[in-house]
Amino acid sequence: MNEAGKQGFDEPRVDYIMQVAFGFWSSKVLLSAVELEVFTELAKQPGDLEALTARLGLHPRSARDFLDALVALGFLERANGKYSNSTATDYFLDKRKATYCGGVLEMANHRLYGFWNNLTTALRTGELQTESKGEDNFFATLYADPQRLKGFLRAMTSMSHTANLAIAQKFPWSNYRSAVDVGCAQGDLIVQIARANPHIRGIGFDLPQAGRIFEEYVAENGVASQVRFQAGNFFDDPLPRADVMIMGHVLHDWNLEQKKLLIRKAYEALPPGGAFIAYDAMIDDDRRQNLFGLLVSLNMLIETPGGFDYTGADCMGWLREAGFRETRVEFLGGVDSMATGIR
Ligand SMILES: C[S@@+](CC[C@H](N)C(=O)[O-])C[C@H]1O[C@@H](n2cnc3c(N)ncnc32)[C@H](O)[C@@H]1O
Repeated sequence: MNEAGKQGFDEPRVDYIMQVAFGFWSSKVLLSAVELEVFTELAKQPGDLEALTARLGLHPRSARDFLDALVALGFLERANGKYSNSTATDYFLDKRKATYCGGVLEMANHRLYGFWNNLTTALRTGELQTESKGEDNFFATLYADPQRLKGFLRAMTSMSHTANLAIAQKFPWSNYRSAVDVGCAQGDLIVQIARANPHIRGIGFDLPQAGRIFEEYVAENGVASQVRFQAGNFFDDPLPRADVMIMGHVLHDWNLEQKKLLIRKAYEALPPGGAFIAYDAMIDDDRRQNLFGLLVSLNMLIETPGGFDYTGADCMGWLREAGFRETRVEFLGGVDSMATGIR
């Protein structure tokens, strides 16, 4: 998208500037559609304007423009006056399907959309702008409300599911017997690893608040005999021992010193030959192509006291500094890449 603003025009054009500047209009139309469960409702049955106005609880003044904006965005189809889901929204945004990935959009709508209004303040002050403003422990504040806790952990699953499936399938699991996912949230990664590799025994390590939600998810997915939860704080407690240690979307939450400390602790907890995996929306090494990675990093500015995203080269450098060998970076599909190192 970034290149489209620069290429192909002889004269300076304003279109791209306008498209990006008013991107929040499109973004909020999609987020409100998820909130109003438009796609879940249409997956049950397509409908015409009058029926949908009633079924979705819309005001007659808003309904036509809202639904047609979703058509223009490509999220709905309209034929002979009847609205239906596009293939993608039917697959990913129908709440009743296992492929639903709207959890992260729900969190974007309820939390991030408002907090990003303070981006300019964050750019000037370097200070986080969320409900944790002024608090020492931002995860404790985030998790103080049970609904917010559950919403956040579920959002992590929908954000990470593509990468989790790729790691469960791509990594050479036949060489290893055990794995620990450090900062496991709801547990989707260790669940997918266990499902794809029945010989692996797994631990999900996270703050105690995540335990019940993790255990429910593991039971729902039928892998309770392979996987267990271990409560702990990765800064204060020793990390569980396993052949493979993974940190997904964990390093980007912390400042450089904390990132290096976590990598060092992983190195110390692994046996010789053990593997460390870190995955995040890594920025391209030249820091000019992966817009999503750069925006995630700005989101860390909004959400954390010192977090930032990083390039694959940055990460491999930190791994080698901790003593890891055979470091490499692989794209996982979706938005994430993983860096691995062998102790
Ligand atoms: C951004 S989430 C990533 C979750 C998951 N790995 C994923 O990629 O979807 C970071 C996770 O780290 C956990 N976490 C934060 N601070 C922690 C700490 N001090 N000790 C253990 N876990 C922590 C959070 O509870 C959360 O589950």
